Amino acid sequence: MEVIRIEGGHPVTGEVTVEGAKNSALKLMAATILAPGVTTLHNVPNISDVHIMGKVLKELGAKVDVVDVHTLRIDTSTVDSWETPYSLVAQMRASTAVLGPLIARFGQAVVAMPGGCNIGARKIDMHILGLQALGVTFDVDHGDIHASAPHGLVGTSVTLEFASVGATENLIMASVHAKGTTVIDNAAREPEIVDLANMLNKMGAHIEGAGTPVIEIRGVGELHPVTHSVVGDRIEAGTFAAIAAIVGNPVTVRGFDPLHLGLVLRKYEQMGIEVERGEREVRISRTDRIKPVDIQTLPFPGFPTDMQAQTMCLLSVAQGTSIVTENVFENRFMFASELQRMGSDITIQGHHAVVRGVERLSGAEVRSPDLRGGAALVMAGLVADGVTTVLDIYHIDRGYERFCEKLRDLGAHVSRVSASFEVLEG
Ligand code: UD1
Repeated sequence: MEVIRIEGGHPVTGEVTVEGAKNSALKLMAATILAPGVTTLHNVPNISDVHIMGKVLKELGAKVDVVDVHTLRIDTSTVDSWETPYSLVAQMRASTAVLGPLIARFGQAVVAMPGGCNIGARKIDMHILGLQALGVTFDVDHGDIHASAPHGLVGTSVTLEFASVGATENLIMASVHAKGTTVIDNAAREPEIVDLANMLNKMGAHIEGAGTPVIEIRGVGELHPVTHSVVGDRIEAGTFAAIAAIVGNPVTVRGFDPLHLGLVLRKYEQMGIEVERGEREVRISRTDRIKPVDIQTLPFPGFPTDMQAQTMCLLSVAQGTSIVTENVFENRFMFASELQRMGSDITIQGHHAVVRGVERLSGAEVRSPDLRGGAALVMAGLVADGVTTVLDIYHIDRGYERFCEKLRDLGAHVSRVSASFEVLEG
């Protein structure tokens, strides 16, 4: 068991390059099931969620070879099972992304029903309703979802109640071979969905409108394997932008499209943070104290829920009071109570947080509640007085590759230490 130890107060400056997007890579890996043969994915982040998706594919019979640290070669010609066990779904909810591709390829799938997770109940009812409209029948038995469409799917119109990322992706992947045309209305518009549609179109699918609220999928025959590079991770980029903003020294963040962080960067400018946009990079710096702003999370192009904790951390040291409203997940403020241990002044009322800026944070032992909350606590530690120790860092490893190394390269005093040594040092 390791913890992250941060010594606050050191300058953080220079350049950092982000990896491919976790939330895209996982779905692209699932989508390889649709094209029997060898697909090569470049710019895949080397993080634990990707390792779990690799295990899911192997469980189904695929061969997953690591060509180099960011390139996977996935042979799905050998896939001969359509069952994903709870032991894997329990480790990562995004394993349910194989549901759509398995139904499309085999006309059936058995996927363990995901439980809730730290940020909420995270139901999959919209995935199921959409797939039912396409002709899939479902049975839930002993905790598993049994999906079946022995005669194939038939294109139809599906209106999502909420622009769910996962439901949009599962419906796109399920309908690539459907008879006729499928229309998804109120579809999610995240850049990762555009990346998925781009790869599927390269494979021979016919998908129009990805990135808009209406996506049309005209069913086609077999898809063929391709080589594809994962889109840059806008949330990793946003996390480093937030880190640069809280510390204040200039940092250039490379390897992503700044348009994918449109509203986040505009909000940061309103906070008095300087943002210089390049084609595939952004330079962040700050001279004055952070100004308060109100933010509310919404599906893309709204403010991403995955940037809420990092931004609340920034606002916790702003000169004034901000209101943060979480509209996407019902339980995503656990990070705030850990940040309070570091001296912040945050009051939670339902899905609103009132954040009264304080002059300084103080180092403390805190527990990472989830992936983004964990990164935000490390971020807080960089400006807190003294030493901060972040526990439960497996959450951070799910989505950030070499997080401590990248921070150290920027000058931060951050290290991973064995939890037992930390006790001795304490
Ligand atoms: C994905 C991202 C996650 C991000 C989220 C929102 C991945 C692996 N994860 O999660 O990082 O925070 O999008 O941008 O890509 N819901 C239902 N029923 C459903 C589906 C969703 O009630 O059938 C609810 C969820 O509980 C949640 C909200 O809708 O409250 C949004 O969920 P969704 O957009 O589906 O997020 P994920 O795909 O799970």
